[in-house]
Amino acid sequence: MMEYESNSWIWDGMYNFPHLFGGLMLTAALLGFSTSYFGGIGVPHLPYLWSDLGIFHKKRREKRRIRVYMDGCFDLMHYGHANALRQAKALGDELIVGVVSDEEIIANKGPPVLSMQERRALVSGLKWVDEVIPNAPYEITEQFMNRLFNEHKIDYIIHGDDPCLLPDGTDAYALAKRVGRYKQIKRTEGVSSTDIVGRILSSMRDRNASEDQHDRPLNGDPHKESQPKGARSSQFLPTSRRIVQFSNGMGPGPNARVVYIDGAFDLFHAGHVEILKRARQLGDFLLVGVHNDQTVSEHRGQHYPIMHVHERSLSVLACRYVDEVIIGAPWEVTKDMITTFNISLVVHGTISENNFSSSSESDPYSVPKSMGIFKLLDSPSNITTTAVAQRIVANHDAYVKRNAKKAASEKKYYAEKKYVSGD
Ligand SMILES: *[C@@H]1O[C@H](CO)[C@@H](O)[C@H](O)[C@H]1NC(C)=O
Ligand SMILES: *[C@@H]1O[C@H](CO)[C@@H](O)[C@H](O)[C@H]1NC(C)=O
Ligand SMILES: *[C@@H]1O[C@H](CO)[C@@H](O)[C@H](O)[C@H]1NC(C)=O
Ligand SMILES: *[C@@H]1O[C@H](CO)[C@@H](O)[C@H](O)[C@H]1NC(C)=O
Repeated sequence: MMEYESNSWIWDGMYNFPHLFGGLMLTAALLGFSTSYFGGIGVPHLPYLWSDLGIFHKKRREKRRIRVYMDGCFDLMHYGHANALRQAKALGDELIVGVVSDEEIIANKGPPVLSMQERRALVSGLKWVDEVIPNAPYEITEQFMNRLFNEHKIDYIIHGDDPCLLPDGTDAYALAKRVGRYKQIKRTEGVSSTDIVGRILSSMRDRNASEDQHDRPLNGDPHKESQPKGARSSQFLPTSRRIVQFSNGMGPGPNARVVYIDGAFDLFHAGHVEILKRARQLGDFLLVGVHNDQTVSEHRGQHYPIMHVHERSLSVLACRYVDEVIIGAPWEVTKDMITTFNISLVVHGTISENNFSSSSESDPYSVPKSMGIFKLLDSPSNITTTAVAQRIVANHDAYVKRNAKKAASEKKYYAEKKYVSGD
């Protein structure tokens, strides 16, 4: 763990192994912030000596750490949220994130898809997040702001560049701005929870339509239909720079025990965070294989994945337990892969979308099993991508309504979107 404790940012390059998988392998070493990885959330912080030291600055070397706060609902968390939090973190030393309570979301936006506990687990799993304040209010009231400043020792409140107005039309951040403790980040990603809910609903509608046709594609061309639906409606344009920002490059150290886990990681959820944490604990370096869109479609059905491979890879890269990601990993774990990455252990969770043993497909883990380096991990959580999608379908009417309203304002946002510089 030593190498992860340093604050030095070393990006030692992006490795391209087109000869291996036609994919891209990235180094995403864990960020070494002040807290430890596996207990990093909610760890008490050092007392704020600075305020007592006054002008004497006896402990000059003990530079005071700037604490920044950002809040959100983080319902159906995606790499856009992760990127906003990454930007917020860059404005200070420690990032404290407020997660809005279920009750407040219901009152202001309608039912959340994910519970407080699930949203909290997702936010806590991000490598830029140092602390989480659960059950934050939807609106930053004066009282809550004072609590942030006094109790949580927050220096700055961060918000995106979209205006946030209270019901009475006033600026929610007016007070923070007045006291000079407000900072803004640019909203840049082409993704939102509303957009993802829309993708899930249209994917389910398509499935209904094709089921009516006895699972046959509408136009009778099976190749055309194999194009994943989710990927089509995405506004996200993956860039190498964004991938680099999400990565933090370090390869496995000498004698490191490399653990490999693969999957679709579609609609990245709390179950993913928990299985990745468990996998990371079995070694020194966690390599994650993210299957490409076509592989996911072949094994889960043509309406999956909801998120395309670059989106899914960014979500995995943002997770604090992940060291490295293979973007577009092969379905089968081969001998060559095991040798190339010096994989000591291949793991797979007990809860997963596919059930290989019950299907006629070949076992993708037959090689590691024959080598005696395969381990089935008890999934700590039973949540699945399908279950998340089903919750949305079950609450269909409420989400269609909520989405129509939000989609209109997002359409306006994209129509009026202008170039912004910065990260
Ligand atoms: C799919 O069809 C079922 C009935 O066949 C319907 O209840 C459900 O609302 C449909 N789902 C969508 C997303 O259209
Ligand atoms: C490969 O992994 C093993 C641990 O399983 C480790 O002992 C060995 O040193 C690693 N090899 C290299 C070259 O790092
Ligand atoms: C997967 O298959 C096993 C038996 O092969 C069965 O016990 C289990 O219920 C199946 N799981 C799912 C989710 O279908
Ligand atoms: C998942 O686990 C929760 C409790 O942890 C339980 O209430 C729920 O019924 C389980 N769901 C399934 C599909 O097994």
